[in-house]
Amino acid sequence: MKCCVGLLIVMIAFVAAATAAEKKKETKEWKVPARAARRENPVASDEKSIAAGKKLYAQECADCHGGSGRGDGAGARDLELDAPMPDLSDPRMWKQSDGSLFFKITKGREPMPGAEELSEEQRWHVVNYVRTLAPKPRGGGGDGDDAQAAKGK
Ligand code: HEC
Repeated sequence: MKCCVGLLIVMIAFVAAATAAEKKKETKEWKVPARAARRENPVASDEKSIAAGKKLYAQECADCHGGSGRGDGAGARDLELDAPMPDLSDPRMWKQSDGSLFFKITKGREPMPGAEELSEEQRWHVVNYVRTLAPKPRGGGGDGDDAQAAKGK
């Protein structure tokens, strides 16, 4: 009987490890459908839009993402996350198209709530504001790698 208990423990440990690995994989990549990533931002990123986006960001997002987007908001401390909070002030944010950000902000993903109660225009204002948090990397960006990939470039 002793042998079987040992075997059972090994099996349970194996299954637990496999499940944990599976879960990690799931929480890592946030796939945006190609059509959504390709979507053009219809709202010009002017002073007015950025100011509107800033106000909405302070109300809806800063509690988790922090005032400067680093993920250090007070609300983020209570979240149980498998991965660190994303840093919206990282220039790598420019690898994503406006359409991708719009999609993520609209849908959310546990524990981030979707912002579907905001109008589409309001969500584009938020996208325009979020863009101001991360410095644009030299040599362009802006169109977004994923949008270009979606276009088949
Ligand atoms: C309850 C806390 C919370 C709130 C409120 C919240 N977020 Fe998030 N946000 C997160 C977490 C956690 C993630 C990472 C989700 C994941 O990858 O599964 C995330 C991811 C994101 C991403 C994707 C980052 C990337 O690297 O691709 C963007 C963009 C974003 N949030 C913007 C916003 C905006 C804009 C708002 C307000 C409209 C908002 N979030 C509100 C917690 C929050």
